[in-house]
Amino acid sequence: MMSWKTRRWDLYAPYYDKLIGFEHLRRRSLDLARLQPGERLLVDGCGTGLDLPLIRSGIEVDAVDLSPGMVEQARRKSAAARIQVMDAQQLTFPDATFDCVLLHLIVAIVPEPLRCLREAGRVLKPGGRIMLFDKYFHGPGQPRLIRRLLNPLMKFLVTDLNLRTLDLAAQAGFEIVHEEPAMLNGMFRIARLEKV
Ligand SMILES: C[S@@+](CC[C@H](N)C(=O)[O-])C[C@H]1O[C@@H](n2cnc3c(N)ncnc32)[C@H](O)[C@@H]1O
Repeated sequence: MMSWKTRRWDLYAPYYDKLIGFEHLRRRSLDLARLQPGERLLVDGCGTGLDLPLIRSGIEVDAVDLSPGMVEQARRKSAAARIQVMDAQQLTFPDATFDCVLLHLIVAIVPEPLRCLREAGRVLKPGGRIMLFDKYFHGPGQPRLIRRLLNPLMKFLVTDLNLRTLDLAAQAGFEIVHEEPAMLNGMFRIARLEKV
């Protein structure tokens, strides 16, 4: 049986675009990806497909999400991308398939974030890059008290606010070549990771 962590996204799918946008941050992440014509891109955990219309033409795009409701919404946004129901922690693509993987607002949501990062690394070609746009904890010490207090509810409803995603990315074998605050006082951040 599907867990709440998976099923909740089918419930959210019809309303997602009314609440979530972040177009300028998606564009910033895509700019930093520096995609070239002919390259292959995986939009991992694509949700309703808000990134898809922003991707320049000439890129070969695959997109996956575990929620059938999300995939249905994403298919309405792009006729060109191949969009499938698939678990980001267990991708069915062969090794070294993609030049770039977008991980936008997904790593802090899946049950096993390190596994998700390792899978993204497996399907990346040598020298490939990951664009991470997410909320994560970045810095010494502990997250602020308010973040720690809110986190159990946020994890149940949506996402972990305090994951140390960059440490996990390093464990998964990535070099963090660029990192910047994006929104809400640096709670949301954008990073470019390269496979070493
Ligand atoms: C916050 S939404 C982000 C969607 C999209 N990337 C965006 O930027 O708007 C998180 C997405 O992760 C998907 N998801 C959750 N667990 C997943 C998994 N194990 N594999 C693939 N997708 C998953 C959900 O269905 C949901 O669409």
